[in-house]
Amino acid sequence: MSGDSAQISRIGILTGGGDCPGLNAVIRVVTKAAILKLGLEVVGIEDGFLGLIRNRMRPLETRDVSNILTVGGTILGTTNKADPTRFATSHDQDGNPVFEDVTQRVLEHVRERRLDAIICIGGDGTMSGTANLISHGIPCIGVPKTIDNDLMHTEITFGFSTAVQTATECLDRIHSTASSHHRVMLVELMGRNAGWLTLHAGLASGADVILIPELPYDIELVCKTCQERSKRGKRFTLVAVSEGARPQGGQQVVDKIVHDSPDPVRLGGVSVVLAEQIAALTRLETRATILGHVQRGGAPIAFDRVLATMFGHQALQLLAARTFNQMVVMRAGRLGTVPLESVANQQRTVALDDPLLAMARDVGTCLGD
Ligand code: F6P
Repeated sequence: MSGDSAQISRIGILTGGGDCPGLNAVIRVVTKAAILKLGLEVVGIEDGFLGLIRNRMRPLETRDVSNILTVGGTILGTTNKADPTRFATSHDQDGNPVFEDVTQRVLEHVRERRLDAIICIGGDGTMSGTANLISHGIPCIGVPKTIDNDLMHTEITFGFSTAVQTATECLDRIHSTASSHHRVMLVELMGRNAGWLTLHAGLASGADVILIPELPYDIELVCKTCQERSKRGKRFTLVAVSEGARPQGGQQVVDKIVHDSPDPVRLGGVSVVLAEQIAALTRLETRATILGHVQRGGAPIAFDRVLATMFGHQALQLLAARTFNQMVVMRAGRLGTVPLESVANQQRTVALDDPLLAMARDVGTCLGD
């Protein structure tokens, strides 16, 4: 639908998937610029695709988005469980969800609300849902968000830098108690199958060991690092470990399966497993802390406020030019676009030749391999 000549007078906006700092900054710029610059009506879709499925939407005026730039989360709500192509409509006798394709219901609601285009803010799961809308003729524009920083074709997503900052502050706090108690302290970070968050926060906090999913770890080597530090008089070790990290030849640790989610696996607990192994093998006192959702919450840092505003503004420029079905990206520090379908259901992980890995090794950080 690139270059579509159809009149655009009313647009929808939704936030899908896990929340992150900066979502409100995008909602703000899109709503304000759409109304003030392009003279459009804006409809806020509640809870991502769930709002399209259940027809829950509300008009957005400029006053509705006033004072939200600095606020974490999303005023529209979100969910990472509503995929219209596989939506849990009931449960069977054993309590298992029964799935249906409810895309037709979504299309009726889009028609009923007279939405001429939709701006979808989200990660790879949301972009897959958006690709489905596009395939049914609904013009869409994607805006990339996620603390995991794992969307294809963009070197950065908003929300990531704030999460790095939050996680770094937590690691710094653990660092001082690790040092006082002469302990091995493991800190587990989010990121799914991508190690970006752990790598950046680990480097920022000077973690002694950084374990990411892309580099399966050797437990013997991790233990040796802790013991050698101890022998050298460094009687503590700070380990930053991704929730998706796994041992060489082994599996990731799964916390739970969320059956009605498009991406049902929730990782978590590897730090606890590792802490037990390290304590048993080294006899060093060891503790594990799982940072969890604290990494997704709170106000966006200034960088993410600006980045989110740039992305949202670029989405509006595309709308004004009637260039649909693209996702906004940042490449080599410049804004650009890619066909939205090329992002759906893919993950950008840390390449093994990423300069950050070499840098970490050169300052003596153990990467577990
Ligand atoms: O994708 C964002 C993220 O926070 C991941 O880092 C994490 O694995 C997952 O979402 C957690 O999902 P939930 O909020 O469903 O527990």
